[in-house]
Amino acid sequence: MAQQVTTLTLKQYKEKKKKIVSLTAYDYSTAQVLDRNGVDVILVGDSLAMVVLGHKSTHPVTVDQMIHHTQAVVRGVERAMVVADMPFMSYQEDVKEAIKNAGRFIKEARAQAVKVEGASRLTLEIIERLVEIGIPVMGHLGFTPQSVHALGGFRVQGKTAEKAMKLMNDAQALERVGVFGMVLEMVPASVSKIITETLEVPTIGIGAGPYCDGQILVVDDMLGKFTDFKPSFVRQYANLAEVSSQAIANYADDVRNNNYPNNEESFHLSSEEEAALLSCIGSKVFH
Ligand code: KIV
Repeated sequence: MAQQVTTLTLKQYKEKKKKIVSLTAYDYSTAQVLDRNGVDVILVGDSLAMVVLGHKSTHPVTVDQMIHHTQAVVRGVERAMVVADMPFMSYQEDVKEAIKNAGRFIKEARAQAVKVEGASRLTLEIIERLVEIGIPVMGHLGFTPQSVHALGGFRVQGKTAEKAMKLMNDAQALERVGVFGMVLEMVPASVSKIITETLEVPTIGIGAGPYCDGQILVVDDMLGKFTDFKPSFVRQYANLAEVSSQAIANYADDVRNNNYPNNEESFHLSSEEEAALLSCIGSKVFH
């Protein structure tokens, strides 16, 4: 069995300049495919709210829903590190509630780490306490979807020197309180390059250019399964929506034309049992 990826593995990857491969997953069979193909970090992202549950933002997803999906992902994984996203309002109110919810992701869902967004004073305090307890925390800066309304929509962050400096300071603050790594989302490439070079912990970019220590994408985006919108930074490696549509149309045709199931796809009585059954029935006609 392959050795499990840990926070230490990711640190070593950064030191060796080996890129970290990360994707989101929300269910057992997808997690298996990712794990079997060498994905290092699987994030059960709160993007689940949008791509799986059909909400317009990440806000509505609950801790219970996130735990339910994290449990499924964990069951499908042998090697990858599973990180669970703490959903909106599960850690923003007070430290005690945040610790309780983070603990549930480790204890009930068996995730190895949790992810929180931003670097507010309270968030930094929460991260420090979680790390003290022994819960690894991944940070998330740049475009933080839980603050979409405050940020004025889905937009690139850190586009002025002043805003880029704020991002760099936030990244260093996150490192100081003990995150083992952080996501940089929708940040200019030159800004994420400087952040990556000045941090000891790895950065994992999404729409943050090529210089991060690793890359992450929402799996439904890169597989072309989620079609409501496509961010410009997404590279689509498959078109599952199209492949699935074709498969379902073919199935519908086969059912309607009595082409499915065929002989091999049906179960059969042995010839002896069939003869016995016919003799039991005798001349009775069943309607
Ligand atoms: O929820 C999510 O999928 C994420 C990634 C975009 C990093 O936070």
